[in-house]
Parts: sequence; C-alpha cells; structure tokens
Amino acid sequence: MVMAMILFNYKAYPEAIGKGALRLSRYLDEIGEEFGVKISVSPQYLDIPTIIRETRNLEVFSQHVDPVKGAYTGSVSPLSLKEAGVSGSLLNHSERKLKISSIKEGVLTLKDLGLTSIVCAEDELIASMISKLSPDFIAVEPPELIGTGISVSKAKPELLERTLQLKEFKIRILCGAGISSGEDVERAMEIGMDGVLVSSSFVKSKNPKEKALELIEAYSKFI
Ligand code: G3P
Repeated sequence: MVMAMILFNYKAYPEAIGKGALRLSRYLDEIGEEFGVKISVSPQYLDIPTIIRETRNLEVFSQHVDPVKGAYTGSVSPLSLKEAGVSGSLLNHSERKLKISSIKEGVLTLKDLGLTSIVCAEDELIASMISKLSPDFIAVEPPELIGTGISVSKAKPELLERTLQLKEFKIRILCGAGISSGEDVERAMEIGMDGVLVSSSFVKSKNPKEKALELIEAYSKFI
C-alpha cells in the first residue's frame, strides 16, 4: 500500500499526450529512481499501457473511473484499468465531478479490485463528507487555484491544516493546485500532507525535466 505520493496529473494537455506522455514519463521514471522515491502519474487512458510497458518504477493512476460493468457503452471500466496494470484512480477531480453516490460506488469498486482510491475534495467540508467513504487518499484541491501557479500550500495553509484531522480515520491527505516550486512542495509536506498533486507547472514547463527534478528533490526530503 502506498503511504505517500507525488502524483503528476497529465490531464488532457497536448504536451502530455502520446509521445509527449512517454517523454515526460521517462523523465519522471529516471528522476524518481535517482532520488529513490516512487512517482505516480495520471495520463490519458490510451497512454496507460505504453507508459506501464516503457517505464520501470512509475505507479500509474487513472484520471477517472466509472464503477460499472456490463452494458455501459463509453464508460471507463475499472476492470479494464486493473487489467492494464494501473495502481488506482482519481475520483471526483474538480474537472470531473461526481455525485456522492458515484464516489461511494467508485471507492468500493476500486477496493474490491485491490486498487487505490484518491478522491478529490474542494474544501474541508467536502473532504469530511468523503472521509465517511474511507478512501485511501483524499486530495484537497481548491479549484480557484488550479492552474494558476499560486500554490495551495502557501495561499491556503489553514485549509490544509483543517483537513489533517481526517488522518485519524487512517486516510492519507494530499493537496494540489498551483504547486509550482520545490518550496511549494516542502511547505505542503511541512504542514503534514502525505504528498502532492502537480500538473501544469510540470506539463507546461519549458524545461519539464528540470522542473520535475526540483519538485521531486523537495518531496524526497520528506520520504
Ligand atoms: O490534479 C492536480 C491538479 O488539479 C493541479 O493542477 O495545474 O494547478 O498543478 P495544477
């Protein structure tokens, strides 16, 4: 079971699709190995098998999953993800929101398949509601900071501090939104987070390898 996490969410950024996804994943794989830490990525579904095949140490997570099987055309089947070798899935990202009943089913389905659930929450109230569903991780991501370069760990430390009580329920707490520097990562880990989610500062960087090095080096100090 993963205890801490730095997850790079590729979203649907053109820079992180197909060949770009593989290039970015190779950087992360190498840097993770160099610092002796496990790196997680969340690519587009169609890039998952290539990334799993072509890298050695990455944990791959789906960006979303539909808790269904059978006649559900167009759904993302949890079993197909498991067969492809993913470690788990994000659920309820603010860019892919779900009803609480679907989050519940999603968490249960992932658990049944032995996969890790990372449920996103916009604030501590939603985080507390989600904690009742016993996911493995809750990722606190205030939507207004996503993609801004203004880090949640610096702009809203009190929000993160308020979610720490959920650790009593053995849920690990991550944060994301605007994390752009090693200092942002360190701040999050000092507050007591179990890890961070990062997207645009890495994917859209002019030098993603250098950016990954900075972020992972900072994370590795706490692992
Ligand atoms: O899932 C991570 C994400 O929403 C944060 O995005 O671009 O602010 O790092 P970004």
